Parts: sequence; C-alpha cells; structure tokens
Amino acid sequence: MRGRALVLDRTQGNCLICHQLPEPNEPFQGTIGPDLAGVASRLDMGQLRLRLVDASLLNPRTVMPPYFRNQGLRDVAPAFRDRPALTAQEIEDVVTYLASLRTP
Ligand code: HEC
Repeated sequence: MRGRALVLDRTQGNCLICHQLPEPNEPFQGTIGPDLAGVASRLDMGQLRLRLVDASLLNPRTVMPPYFRNQGLRDVAPAFRDRPALTAQEIEDVVTYLASLRTP
C-alpha cells in the first residue's frame, strides 16, 4: 500500500521518529506523539487529513510538521523549501492507510 510505504519511509513521512505503529519489524519507533495503532477508531478520515495537512491548525504549539503547507516553514531542508512535504495524492494515500488502523 502506497500510504503505508510513505509513512514508514524515513526520508518522506518519517512518522516513526515520533509515533509508534503496529509494525513489529520497524525498529526505533518514537514516543513523542501518540501511538497510531487504532487511530482510525478515534478519528475519521477528515480528522486524520486535517492533522496531516497542518496539525498547527489544532495545536499552534505542535511539534508535528505540516505535511501539506508551503508557507511559513522554518528550519526546512533546501529540497523542501516552498513546497509541501507530501503531494495532495500522497496525503490521501497516507489518510487511507491510517484509516485502516482500527483497534481489533
Ligand atoms: C516531530 C514529531 C512528529 C512527526 C514527525 C509526526 N508527528 Fe504526528 N503527532 C505528533 C504529536 C506530538 C502529536 C500529538 C498532537 C499534537 O501535539 O499536536 C501528533 C498527532 C498525530 C495524529 C493524531 C493522533 C491522535 O490520536 O490524536 C495523527 C493521526 C498523526 N500525528 C499522524 C502522523 C503521521 C501519519 C505522520 C507522518 C506523515 C506524523 N504524524 C509525523 C508528532 C509528530
């Protein structure tokens, strides 16, 4: 699944630096953000999308990077300057993957 690949890719989403996921084979999972196992049981697709696009809309002091914003970015690598970290299609792919993470 493309969304899963983006989430696990340490050069793209790099979500695991802050989050845990139900991926037992992935080393070094972070604990800065909430565990994303079962996140789809808490949040619907619109809520997931909003958090990915720009989590600072909900929490101005969030440390989660905005994945679909290109204004007001600070401390970004030159390759990411003036462009969103993920494309609109990639955001949808990640939302689809997250929406599959339901608590059993
Ligand atoms: C630098 C750390 C960091 C990175 C990288 C990061 N996040 Fe987050 N994320 C957080 C924090 C912290 C929160 C808790 C809410 C807040 O503080 O804004 C959060 C909240 C969330 C939530 C809401 C979870 C809930 O239960 O309410 C989702 C969904 C989420 N992140 C998905 C992702 C995805 C997918 C990626 C990668 C594309 C990602 N995050 C990358 C730090 C991060």
